[in-house]
Amino acid sequence: MYKLVLIRHGESQWNLENRFTGWHDVDLSESGIAQAKGAGQALKEAGFEFDIAYTSVLLRAIKTLNIALEEMGQHYLPVERHWRLNERHYGALTGLDKAETAAKHGEDQVKIWRRSFDVPPPEVDTDSEHFPAHDRRYANVDPSILPKAESLALTIERVLPYWHDEIRPTIQSGKRVIIAAHGNSLRALVKYLDGMTEEEVLELNIPTGVPLVYELDENLKPISKQYIGDPEAIKAMMDAVANQGKAK
Ligand code: 3PG
Repeated sequence: MYKLVLIRHGESQWNLENRFTGWHDVDLSESGIAQAKGAGQALKEAGFEFDIAYTSVLLRAIKTLNIALEEMGQHYLPVERHWRLNERHYGALTGLDKAETAAKHGEDQVKIWRRSFDVPPPEVDTDSEHFPAHDRRYANVDPSILPKAESLALTIERVLPYWHDEIRPTIQSGKRVIIAAHGNSLRALVKYLDGMTEEEVLELNIPTGVPLVYELDENLKPISKQYIGDPEAIKAMMDAVANQGKAK
């Protein structure tokens, strides 16, 4: 049996401001830093030891991982950062206020953009600052596969090759893995691991800064899955994520 820990980054500045973020590179808020520390402490208290960590190339996930590893006294671990673990690209919604967008386009439309399986948000133009080809961290990626907007389905298509090529063999080699990533790149992974339907994943909201522990069998099929923390507080955090798309 293997254990795998997933953690969504702590609250970011744009989570706090309720703005669609996607691949835009924002920092953690003060509470996000506190959440990352809390996650590290909780993992330490529960006795977790890791051999390798994976994260995206976005500051909020990298910083959450660094803070949590430092809290655990495991800051020396190897860390692999990869763009395939980035947040889902929010296209032309990037930077917009989620509640204002709901007031303008309707809550139902915003739920479709945020949570439907295969409806992507409107695309960014290739001359937009939010098109990743303008960012040197993606210089080695074929521009034709860089997203202009992603649905969850498209996010799954780009996360899973990294899971299959890198993370899965590492887990099966016996290394203990922690992944710090994003609301929707983790929804992609959770949908895959749990074999969730498109309807089930619609209601899946992942809270910021709370470790999610999977026990997996030798084929990496989940045996159990549990967030570390107070279930009521975690439920409230999940509801708060879902409610970000409501008009005020
Ligand atoms: C974002 O990119 O705005 C958030 O990290 C995730 O947003 P969502 O919960 O609205 O999909």
